[in-house]
Amino acid sequence: MITNTELTQKGNVFPSKIISFSKDVDKIYFTTEDDVVLQITILRDSVLRFRYTTTGTFARELPYAITQHASIGYNELDIEEETSFYVITTSKLICKVSKKDLKIKLYDRADGSLINEDELGFHWEDSYEFGGNIVKMSKVSHDAESYYGLGDKPSHLNLKGKRFENWVTDSYAYGKDTDPIYKTIPFYTGLYNKKAYGIFFDNTFRSYFDFGQERRNVTSFWAQGGEMNYYFIYGPKMTDVVEYYTDLTGKPDLPPLWALGFHQCKWSYYPESKVKDIAAKFRELQIPCDAIYLDIDYMEGFRCFTWNKDYFPDPKRMVKELEEDGFKTVAIIDPGIKIDKDYWVFKEGLENDYFCKRADGPYVKGKVWPGECYFPDFTNPEVREWWSGLFKELIEDIGVKGIWNDMNEPAVMEVPNKTFPNDVRHNYDGDPCSHRKAHNIYGMQMARATHHGVKKFSHPKRPFVITRAAYSGTQRYTSTWTGDNIANWEHLWIANIQVQRMAMSGFSFAGSDIGGFAEQPHGELFTRWIQLGTFHPFFRVHSSGDHGDQEPWTFDEDVTDIVRKFIEFRYQLLPYLYTAFWDYTEKGVPLIQSLVMYDQEDGNTHYRTDEFIYGNKILVCPVLEPNAKGRRMYVPRGEWYNFWTDEKIKGGKEMWVDADIDSMPIFIKEGSIIPKYPVQQHVDEKKIEEIVLDIYYKEGKENSQFFDDSHDGYEYTRGRFCLRTFKLTGRKDQLIIQQHKEGTFASDCKKFKLQIHGLPFEIKNIQLDNQTKSLEHLQINGCLTMIIEENFAELDLNAK
Ligand code: GLC
Repeated sequence: MITNTELTQKGNVFPSKIISFSKDVDKIYFTTEDDVVLQITILRDSVLRFRYTTTGTFARELPYAITQHASIGYNELDIEEETSFYVITTSKLICKVSKKDLKIKLYDRADGSLINEDELGFHWEDSYEFGGNIVKMSKVSHDAESYYGLGDKPSHLNLKGKRFENWVTDSYAYGKDTDPIYKTIPFYTGLYNKKAYGIFFDNTFRSYFDFGQERRNVTSFWAQGGEMNYYFIYGPKMTDVVEYYTDLTGKPDLPPLWALGFHQCKWSYYPESKVKDIAAKFRELQIPCDAIYLDIDYMEGFRCFTWNKDYFPDPKRMVKELEEDGFKTVAIIDPGIKIDKDYWVFKEGLENDYFCKRADGPYVKGKVWPGECYFPDFTNPEVREWWSGLFKELIEDIGVKGIWNDMNEPAVMEVPNKTFPNDVRHNYDGDPCSHRKAHNIYGMQMARATHHGVKKFSHPKRPFVITRAAYSGTQRYTSTWTGDNIANWEHLWIANIQVQRMAMSGFSFAGSDIGGFAEQPHGELFTRWIQLGTFHPFFRVHSSGDHGDQEPWTFDEDVTDIVRKFIEFRYQLLPYLYTAFWDYTEKGVPLIQSLVMYDQEDGNTHYRTDEFIYGNKILVCPVLEPNAKGRRMYVPRGEWYNFWTDEKIKGGKEMWVDADIDSMPIFIKEGSIIPKYPVQQHVDEKKIEEIVLDIYYKEGKENSQFFDDSHDGYEYTRGRFCLRTFKLTGRKDQLIIQQHKEGTFASDCKKFKLQIHGLPFEIKNIQLDNQTKSLEHLQINGCLTMIIEENFAELDLNAK
């Protein structure tokens, strides 16, 4: 049933006038004549939560999206009663609540400008069939307002003019604008008058967002049950909005560094000899790779937590041998448990009553890869605990390093709605409900239980999990990929959009099936896709295998060489990516930023889709068309160095950039200092005693950081990290680099090899920590090069 805000207008009910008001610490309550209560919680000066009930009482808090660790607290709170409004003022926001109809207006406290205003505001419709309400909210949308976010929607980056549905769905071979697909992230960022705000509609029922499609000047969102419950996050910077949303719904721990390397996957590599051959080929061709995946065929009849002993007679030995060669093994685990009385997981689940049931009692039965299955109720904490424990053998005994959760929408084959029927019952952490409410978080709870299991049995190392289905907050537990895409150029465009959108939705650790899952790419498409993937936080080739191979050497030698070059580049940039990842885990800073997020004040960025900033200093733009020798792209404001030529360009305009098949447009922001490793065949292959710092001269100041630790384990949480902050100050005749070090981790790095780009003067004098150094330390090797001790405090290069 698709409810439509306008079509169902007749059934809509609206709140009447406010008759009482009260305050309880950080919560303010407004009650209307007809017993509607609006609760406004002040989380921060710039973050308010709005929650409405039509019954006089509120439901239990939802247990899934919001983390306990969110930072809350405000500086100022003042409430005044005016003739027509109650006025709530914090140090950042003014919120007016209309006495006659509960409508909200939100203003920027600093300049009094209107940020967001209710149109019809909160309204609802009785849900005759299920009880409760269909809850609705509509807001005024302005002509120049833009919208971003919502997870994995494969549509234009700017959501304006479109309507979307949120219902986690297995979407094999989806296409542009297919909706809904695998994830539900009911959070968007609005941008109006250069100011950004966010709305997170935390409601796990099937929900909808309409950004001016139904009525041009109205943005609305609604859900088929539950409460109208949304968080309003004021920026005004887009990055602040996304960072606070991520703080609210949770940041992940650092992944092990190997998880940021290159991963090779296929459905499926088996038997063992095939897996070994693939691994050997990577090493033979010297193409870096850190992980190899086992898809469903490693199991015995697709029974989770078993091994097919014909294909894999001694998994422990195989995993160990792969590990000795620098490969981590990642294995798939699906939610469907085969109905088989002789299968221990099935027996345990049955004995303990852990499987989901229909409303009238029978178990939910559904077909997946193993045939008829039952499905654990991951919304039950006891079931999650049990599930976590099932990983002991795989992780602790056999040594598998990562788990891949798939089909967890949950996907059910050969049924019209591709998932459980609505009447299925769930525990929902002690607040039992139907599948209507639990569907969108089912996959998330599976990934959560998996994460806990992998974490427990990997200790003291860090876990690695990847999931297909997700709801807001899933980024706390796992990485993700964009599901079953297709090997065509349109899907390269989609992959680029989706990973940017996920980053804007708080979930940065994402990537696509490089090369396409369904069908087979030709060498050119595969190459362009590897180029894009080099700059995606999660970097994995995967394919269904139905249409041929998809390894870096499948095509021709030229392709192999270019692919190797880009994968090598990924490995060189690992310290930069790891630093960005650390920033994400600390502050929620997205790992990649769409241009609009990078420079929201420049209207030219609002509808750009292809270019993005990797970390906060590297601008990339994938080539998305066949036979290209380059492309037009928009370079955002500021000065940038062409990575390949060191040519310096002024942004704020669209331009042609050469990029033959062995290249792609990459630019470095002036003033940046980029740490680089030497090429390795896998993470930590080498003891790295010398790290390159690529320094891009700027007249002015710029800060860069470089975070390092032991690349696995939790010592970094106890101060065993090394965070270097570099301050670059450039003048016409001088370049100063200062280093400030924090943390107690002593890495292998003894020296920095500085590579200085774009220096506009000839160096006559070098001062290193106040000592004059001979000019012999300088070498010209393409660019100016100099090797210095890693613990320097200040380097001063000047023309005097
Ligand atoms: C699903 C997954 C895909 C996997 C396949 C077999 O289609 O999305 O990645 O290879 O199932 O397990």
